[in-house]
Amino acid sequence: MSCAFSVNGYRELARRHLPRMVFDYLEGGADDEKCLQRNLDAFDALELLPRRLINVAQPSLSTEVLGVSQPLPLIVAPMGLSGAFWPKGDLELARAAKKAGIPFILSTASNASIEEVAEQVGGDLWFQLYVVHPTLAEHLVKRALAAGYRTLVLTTDVAVNGKRERDLRSGFGLPFKYTPNVIIDGMLHPRWSLRLLTAGMPQLANFASTQAYDAELQAALLSRQMDASFDWAGLKRLRDLWPHRLLVKGILHPDDVKHCIELGADGVILSNHGGRQLDSSCSPMAVLEQIATAHPGKVLVDSGFRRGSDVVKALALGASGVLIGRPLLYGLATAGTVGAASVLDIFKDEISRTLANMGCACVRRLTPGYLIHT
Ligand code: FNR
Repeated sequence: MSCAFSVNGYRELARRHLPRMVFDYLEGGADDEKCLQRNLDAFDALELLPRRLINVAQPSLSTEVLGVSQPLPLIVAPMGLSGAFWPKGDLELARAAKKAGIPFILSTASNASIEEVAEQVGGDLWFQLYVVHPTLAEHLVKRALAAGYRTLVLTTDVAVNGKRERDLRSGFGLPFKYTPNVIIDGMLHPRWSLRLLTAGMPQLANFASTQAYDAELQAALLSRQMDASFDWAGLKRLRDLWPHRLLVKGILHPDDVKHCIELGADGVILSNHGGRQLDSSCSPMAVLEQIATAHPGKVLVDSGFRRGSDVVKALALGASGVLIGRPLLYGLATAGTVGAASVLDIFKDEISRTLANMGCACVRRLTPGYLIHT
């Protein structure tokens, strides 16, 4: 297996391993992709103010994420169509999460079904819900409950599909359209093509029956035609339906966070969907401190985390945990479970080194006092 020492190293390997159309689906953002850069810049605008003469011989990375003890403050973000990067990519990512002792969030648009992931991998499984249709949402929630998932994550930032021009240009979708460009690209990436030929075309596994209803929903999900009428009343209905932990993802406004908590959500995930939806959106880091101060212990965050020091900065601002997105797909595309697990190890090592060098013995002791806003 090729070796990389950083997330960017894995990014480069993934770029080489994947056909251009597939890498562009992984990497792309909405419109001019300014939000992708804004997400990264948000971390540079925060500098660390280290403390000295502290015993940091054994930095501790263990923490409580929403009241549950974890060895690392990380969570695997939900990512649809991960079978495009590696056959049954969801299973591979879930295995890497289980190995690291952290939660895995299965996307509604997964290529391994709710039940398959539970039966074949297990671990701390969370289910992410896209509401394409209210009846279908109820059906999925009941399946997740029956399969043993105990955290439901409602994604709220895809009212309509973000305008991802890379995908529009390449025609990315499932099943792949075999245009001459796609065929040539596939031939230039023989290992990826061989895996695809052996495993077969990825399916939206949660809707894999032959019923017309499922086919209709597959098409709606693939083009991300969500139920744009879903509103606060819908969240309330979902709260009544789901008896366990409920998180709302894609929230950024402090008033929306307050409303979610008032309606009974157990926490929120501040996110701009990794810059894939609203190009002019703020980085979640811009609102994190204010929101985490108002709702301690209830706030997770994602979008743009590429270094252990990025994670440390979010925890210092009050986040309880951080979802990792694309970096795990870079690892997955390079070497399946081994690659994704290696990316988690890189984060772990970098968080540990950052803590030691900034004179903080434990992630639980991080505070805004370790940061300077430049
Ligand atoms: C995503 N994301 C996402 N979110 C979600 O709620 N459901 C989904 O199915 C998907 N699918 C998806 C596919 C791909 C290829 C990517 C890159 C992202 C968003 C994801 O959960 C997370 O919010 C972002 O990926 C975080 O940003 P970074 O870390 O990728 O920059």
